[in-house]
Amino acid sequence: MEKMVSSWCNTVKFVPQDYVFPEDTRTEDQTVPILKNCPMIDLEKAVSGDRNDVIQQVLQASQDCGLFQVINHGVCDDLIKDTMEMSKEFFNMSNEEKASLYSLDPHKSCRLYTSSFDYARESIHLWRDVLKHPCHPLEEWVDLWPQKPSKYRDVVGKYSIEVRNLSLRILELIREGLELKPEYFGDEMKDVQMLVLSHYPPCPDPSLTLGILKHYDPYVITILYQGNMSGLQVMKDGQWVRVEPVANAFVVNIGQLLKVISNGKLESVEHRVVTNSKEPRYTIASFIGTRRDTIIEPAKALLEKDDCRPLYQAFSYKDFLQAHKEHRGEGEATLKVFKIEG
Ligand code: OGA
Ligand code: NI
Repeated sequence: MEKMVSSWCNTVKFVPQDYVFPEDTRTEDQTVPILKNCPMIDLEKAVSGDRNDVIQQVLQASQDCGLFQVINHGVCDDLIKDTMEMSKEFFNMSNEEKASLYSLDPHKSCRLYTSSFDYARESIHLWRDVLKHPCHPLEEWVDLWPQKPSKYRDVVGKYSIEVRNLSLRILELIREGLELKPEYFGDEMKDVQMLVLSHYPPCPDPSLTLGILKHYDPYVITILYQGNMSGLQVMKDGQWVRVEPVANAFVVNIGQLLKVISNGKLESVEHRVVTNSKEPRYTIASFIGTRRDTIIEPAKALLEKDDCRPLYQAFSYKDFLQAHKEHRGEGEATLKVFKIEG
């Protein structure tokens, strides 16, 4: 546990050598421009206004950016605030109190760890501590979650349900937009939900370190809450740009599985996290995904409708995850494994 960044970062003035990334992979946040026109979608309008218009906004943003933000999303502000508070309280507990959850085993379903999923085998570490746990169906997993803070299970349980519902509403807009049958995003495409709470402590020299290496989310869809601290960057037109936090808005990321299912109609965006020297940053990411044996492939109905050939071969999620691990930091390469050339 002494490896957790928060355990030792207050005692150092300089970044340890095994946290220094090669020059071409890191950055000073301040030098990076802001993502302009990051689509902000008012989800209430999907119910009370022109649903079709909202669908088109979602599709357009997913095509152009692979990412957008949503407001009036139905997750109540107090619940978001309370969940962020739970996260802060959790990470600020003593190491003794968190010790039972700490594990180096990447296969442990609910675990507290530092850096990436595989600290032992990586050569450079990330400036980040993480609590990750499955959350759907809640009753199956909640007993593995932290027992402290005492309200953690209650608050974070409610949050994961509401955020899951939000993900499903967005998926439904996408399904309608792609004109796929209601069964299409069936239960198996969304029966896994992971919650990832990240803590990025202040770093003495953010220009040397990274909170998360560049990657694509290896899931169907991501809903991220980044509080009021910036740190998220996306690759847009060959350049890193910042996604500025907006109060009570969520960042929605199209995952790589959705890119495949839509046969490349929707984009998944490469992104990373940088650190800062001023304040700790806490984020909560909810990922909707699938089981390891699910077969992922471009939607047949879509290929027929558009009379186009599949860009990807069918693969099991298990094989995808294997490729994802092998191409750590080279996310594009993961999907190339399954790409049909021609
Ligand atoms: C992730 C991710 C962004 C953030 O967990 O996949 O991209 O700001 N997180 O924590
Ligand atoms: Ni991500």
